[in-house]
Amino acid sequence: MNRLDVAIEISKHVGFYLMQFWGRASNIEKKENFQDLVTAQDKNSQELIINKIQSHFPNDGFLAEEDMEKNSKNLWIIDPIDGTINYIHGLPSFCISIAYYEDKKPVFGTVYNPFTEELFVGIKDEGAYLNHSRLKVNDINNLNFAVGSLGFTKNFTGKFIEKVENNVQRIRIIGSAAISACYVAANKFDFFITTKANPWDIAAAYIIVTEAGGCVRNFTGNNPKIFEKDSYIFSKPSILETLQNIISEIGGGI
Ligand code: IPD
Ligand code: CA
Ligand code: CA
Ligand code: CA
Repeated sequence: MNRLDVAIEISKHVGFYLMQFWGRASNIEKKENFQDLVTAQDKNSQELIINKIQSHFPNDGFLAEEDMEKNSKNLWIIDPIDGTINYIHGLPSFCISIAYYEDKKPVFGTVYNPFTEELFVGIKDEGAYLNHSRLKVNDINNLNFAVGSLGFTKNFTGKFIEKVENNVQRIRIIGSAAISACYVAANKFDFFITTKANPWDIAAAYIIVTEAGGCVRNFTGNNPKIFEKDSYIFSKPSILETLQNIISEIGGGI
């Protein structure tokens, strides 16, 4: 079994497990504050994923949200549930995000939503797919036709909405950074913007969106620093500059 097949197989297996507890997660605990929660299912999902990978590739390393870091040039970046708050509340946007990087360079990423059974895959230089259909970002030439998505982050989300409410068709906040970004790859959203994303939120979606022909930049206009906390603009090429200008006007941080 190659690494991509392992990622897909374990995502579906864990997805089946997670659906048993969807909307009734157990051992809900606070991490940094009341907006940052972890459940037994986050921890179990991570353990299932890491055990499976280790059984095939014992020397590989991990960077995973629920306290697991082991360095290696062969690195898996894992978010065992992206959208924990949705998962706890029985809302349908949550996913398992698995990325594989070699020497800190992207190789592939998978994002699987067990509720919708959407599997997004991006393979470096080989394209992006949603359940075997090739993804290709199309273009729009005016923000007026855009449906965009945002993270829920302090000092940014409110200001951004206020600034664009008369210029975009709609703004949606769906509660999973990985799914929101993949929806740009799939032309469901025209952009997704968030501050303070962690490597595990975004490492897989970054490959999926770039392979689908979407743009990914941070708020300073550079390639985001995947291995640090950074700001992200995922967008169709033609509206990127307009979005960057809006963000500089409101003074967005990371
Ligand atoms: C969170 C979700 C959420 C985003 C947060 C993330 P988690 O991840 O992606 O949509 O706004 O910044 O931390 O904690 O559910 O894995
Ligand atoms: Ca979390
Ligand atoms: Ca996350
Ligand atoms: Ca998580």
